[in-house]
Amino acid sequence: MPSEKKYEPLLNGAEPMAGEEITLDDDKTLDYPAILPRSRRNHLRTVRILVGLNVVLATLLFLVVGFWWRENAKMPTPPHSPAWPAVKYVNKRFKKDDRFYGTDEMDPNMDKAWKNITGPSTGHITLPAAEAQKNVPSLELWFKPGYYLYGLDMFHQLHCLDIIRRSFFPKHYFPNNSEAETLRHKQHCFDYLRQSIMCAGDVTLDHWFNYTWTSSSYKDSDNLNPSDDWMNMYTQNFKDLSRKQRSQWAPLMWDTTHQCRDYDSLYEWVRDRQLVDKDYKDDTVKNP
Ligand SMILES: *[C@@H]1O[C@H](CO)[C@@H](O)[C@H](O)[C@H]1NC(C)=O
Ligand SMILES: *[C@@H]1O[C@H](CO)[C@@H](O)[C@H](O)[C@H]1NC(C)=O
Ligand SMILES: *[C@@H]1O[C@H](CO)[C@@H](O)[C@H](O)[C@H]1NC(C)=O
Repeated sequence: MPSEKKYEPLLNGAEPMAGEEITLDDDKTLDYPAILPRSRRNHLRTVRILVGLNVVLATLLFLVVGFWWRENAKMPTPPHSPAWPAVKYVNKRFKKDDRFYGTDEMDPNMDKAWKNITGPSTGHITLPAAEAQKNVPSLELWFKPGYYLYGLDMFHQLHCLDIIRRSFFPKHYFPNNSEAETLRHKQHCFDYLRQSIMCAGDVTLDHWFNYTWTSSSYKDSDNLNPSDDWMNMYTQNFKDLSRKQRSQWAPLMWDTTHQCRDYDSLYEWVRDRQLVDKDYKDDTVKNP
C-alpha cells in the first residue's frame, strides 16, 4: 500500500519535462493511473525511473569514492617501476628446498642453485630512454647508446643473501678480497636485507605444530589452509596427549601458505630486458 510520505520527496525533487506541467496538489496519494491521462502517467513513470536511477548512481559513486579514499589512505601512490605490470600474486606454501642445503656448505651444486635464482644477468636490465626517463636517473650504456642500465631489486636482494652465505667462507669464495672488503659487503647486505624484509611486512602466521598429529595429506598439501574445523583433523594420538605433553612436541613451523609476488613472472620480465652476457663489460657494469 503506497504511503504519501514515501513518494512525495521523489516528485518534489524532480523537474517537470519541458512543455508539461505537473500539478500534484490534488494527487498526493499518487494513485495516478486513475486520475491522470496516459501521457502524464508515462511521464511520471519516467521521472520515477530517472530519480531512482540517480539514487542508485549516487550511492555507487559514494561507495566507490569511499573505497578509493580508504585504500588511498592505506596505500600512498607507489614509486614508478616499469615492472608493475609483471606483478602477479600467487599463494604459495613455503617448503624445505633441498637444493639449497647441499652436502656441505661449499657444495658446488648449491652454488649452482643460487646462481640460478639470482636471475638472468643478476637482474641487470636495459631500458630505452623513453622508458628510463620515467624512473630514477641511471647510467647510459656506452656500448649501447640510448639504453640505460637498471636492476630489479628482488634479484639484488637475492644476490645479497648469496653474498652473506658465501662470506662465511671468504677464503673459498672471495680469495682476492681483503677482509675489510668482505666485511663491508656483508654489512651492506645485512642492512639492505633487513630493510627489504621490514618493507615486505609478511603477515603470514607461523604456528606451533607437529604433523604426526594429522593426516599426511595435511602435511603435504600445496596450499595449507585451516580446514573448517581443524580440531577434527587431529589423530587419536594427539587427543590422548595432555596439553603439557603436546607443547613438548610442537616445534615452531614456518612452512605455511604465503601470499607471494609471482617469482616466475618477474623472472620473465627481467629476462626479456636483460643485459645479455655478450654485452657485459666488467669495466663499466659493476655488480649491484
Ligand atoms: C632454476 O630456476 C628455475 C626458475 O625458478 C627453476 O624452474 C629451475 O628448477 C631451477 N633449476 C635449478 C637447477 O635449480
Ligand atoms: C683471483 O685473482 C687471480 C689472479 O689475479 C685470478 O686468477 C682469479 O680468477 C681470481 N679469483 C676470483 C674468484 O676472482
Ligand atoms: C612430533 O611428535 C612426536 C611424538 O608425538 C615426536 O616423537 C616428534 O619428535 C615430534 N616432532 C618434532 C619435530 O618435535
